[in-house]
Amino acid sequence: MANVTVIGSQWGDEGKGKIVDWLSSRADVVVRFQGGHNAGHTLVIDGKTYKLHLLPSGIVRKGKKSVIGNGVVVDPWALMKEIEDVRGQGVDITPANFFVSENANLILPVHGAVDRALEAARGKGQIGTTGRGIGPAYEDKVARRGIRVCDLLHPDLLKEKIERLLIHHNALLKGLGAETFNMRHIFDSLMQINGALLQYAGPVWKKLDEWQRQGEKILFEGAQGTMLDVDHGTYPFVTSSNTVAAQAAAGSGVGPRATGYVLGITKAYTTRVGAGPFPSEQSNDIGETLGRVGHEFGTTTGRKRRCGWFDSALVRQSVKISGIEGIALTKLDVLDGFDEIKICTGYRVDGQILDHLPASQTHQATAEAVYEGMEGWQESTRGARSWADLPAAAIKYVRRIEELIEAPVALLSTSPEREDTILVRDPFQNS
Ligand code: IMP
Repeated sequence: MANVTVIGSQWGDEGKGKIVDWLSSRADVVVRFQGGHNAGHTLVIDGKTYKLHLLPSGIVRKGKKSVIGNGVVVDPWALMKEIEDVRGQGVDITPANFFVSENANLILPVHGAVDRALEAARGKGQIGTTGRGIGPAYEDKVARRGIRVCDLLHPDLLKEKIERLLIHHNALLKGLGAETFNMRHIFDSLMQINGALLQYAGPVWKKLDEWQRQGEKILFEGAQGTMLDVDHGTYPFVTSSNTVAAQAAAGSGVGPRATGYVLGITKAYTTRVGAGPFPSEQSNDIGETLGRVGHEFGTTTGRKRRCGWFDSALVRQSVKISGIEGIALTKLDVLDGFDEIKICTGYRVDGQILDHLPASQTHQATAEAVYEGMEGWQESTRGARSWADLPAAAIKYVRRIEELIEAPVALLSTSPEREDTILVRDPFQNS
């Protein structure tokens, strides 16, 4: 099975864009299987920068098929705008290379409003969501009142469904002192774009089956990171989807054996956007330096990311939970110039040393990082293309990470440029 699943092993923003782009150049099909336009993947190809939120990364490459699976929540207006923007950069997007699952749930304007009103009402307990309506749309899906892409085919039923959905949300919005929504307005807006969206819609699970039988290689492109998973992450400071590798199957309609080699994208230090526990966070000069050198600002919201040392206990947890077979280690060069580098190896919780982050919100909030120190390096690792280009201390750091997380480095990325990558093993060859 020559397929690969790429996921983030931390809290998202691990630098998936570049790796996914490199892998998508070797795949025939690229599939998004969870999340929505809360994601932000930056691709730099031949000097041109593409910022994608909802479109799979394969879209910018000629001859590749791109798929939005059923596990994604689709804001149809955001999708149309993104298609328009990317087309404006000279990319072809047609029903021959882009497919949207007919049973994907839609994000409506009311979901964004509820998301933002709930966040405002949480006060100090804010999650720091992207405000894009992701959570409320997933809630509607599970509550069985969601609107799906295929509902656009049947205007009468669609009206009824919007009406039902608004009974729930308008009551909530009223209670929160926010403006309510009107069925007609949402319906009319949907009718304006339904043709544009429906041309891409169909049973993508069936297409994926056909393409697999033809021997095509599929890349499953995860968004966010394992620690933002709604089950396994730092709940409630998580996103509302399963971000683990297993979701690639359920969120696109293939069997669990079809998702192939699991590659975990892992940053050489740790960052997080939004609220929630972060034991190895450095709210000091070290964190400031990591943020400045690593350009740690969100692609989607522009928010400053919180920064800290590499947390090997957390990544090891992701390795186990997602069945990560190898990692792509990114942004090693950001650590150039530190005299000492620390690695978090576990936590002190209630006076006990743990080698994993426990599930309780209270334990997570009070967990203190336990570190081991390593010698830093002063040489530049930026742009290294072979192990021989790396200083001995940097190699030692990478080897120690592999040991602690119990997974090997498959790829090492040393700059945003595509060529600046050390390939240890090709994930497609390992599948
Ligand atoms: P939501 O996904 O908008 O509901 O936000 C929930 C949490 O996930 C917040 O802490 C966000 O900052 C975080 N989040 C959502 N998408 C991303 C992403 O693509 N990268 C990093 N963090 C994200």
